[in-house]
Amino acid sequence: MRRKQRPIHRGARKELVSFLIQAATQWRLTGALLPSSAALCHAMTDPLARDSRAASRMILEVGAGTGVITEEIVPLMSPRDRLVVYELSERLGERLKYRAKGPEWSGRDIEIRVKPFPEGTEDEHYNFAVCSLPFNNFPAYMVHICLKTFSKILTPGGVLTFYEYCHLRNLRLQFANRKEFIRLRRIDRTVKSFLKTHHGQCRHVLINVPPAWVYTIRF
Ligand SMILES: C[S@@+](CC[C@H](N)C(=O)[O-])C[C@H]1O[C@@H](n2cnc3c(N)ncnc32)[C@H](O)[C@@H]1O
Repeated sequence: MRRKQRPIHRGARKELVSFLIQAATQWRLTGALLPSSAALCHAMTDPLARDSRAASRMILEVGAGTGVITEEIVPLMSPRDRLVVYELSERLGERLKYRAKGPEWSGRDIEIRVKPFPEGTEDEHYNFAVCSLPFNNFPAYMVHICLKTFSKILTPGGVLTFYEYCHLRNLRLQFANRKEFIRLRRIDRTVKSFLKTHHGQCRHVLINVPPAWVYTIRF
């Protein structure tokens, strides 16, 4: 589906600087050199854009960073929808809170949680989840917990999208020491088995630094 290009908002440069600082100082948590491109943000929110149901929807975004994907989600929300956003970085989270209160995202039901996903999702249910967590930087058991949580909290018919940079894990495996090799292999097995079990669809997004694979899973 073709969506209109959003105009660049006034704080965009500030947000880019915030992201670069975060990437440089907290590489393990960020796991990206730049925020996602418009093409990647579109691919990540495509299932939400295509959904035409009138009912109120629960939407979850995990690892929002400066909010480039949030900016795509908000215009797709009806006044009845609710969006819960997770961001672990306090600095980025506070900035998201500020934006959620401002005119840009006003009139929408948005909750920003500055804490690690999946903390606080017990007993919650969502129709859509959009995840940008840098799984390759996580301990393997955390990747397992995150993916298991998605299968638990997404309702039947619910949709999860998440991305990984193309071939990055394989590349890192080539240069890894033994401990790192075992960790990355475990992550690889966990992600692959999750995709196989839930019949994940993969889409290439070439216009991004680096290019990415976007996975879509319908529960
Ligand atoms: C690769 S960046 C993605 C940022 C943005 N969504 C994008 O696509 O450009 C990953 C973000 O996830 C956040 N993050 C890492 N671990 C997290 C966790 N357990 N819970 C919530 N956010 C987390 C990081 O602080 C970082 O901002």
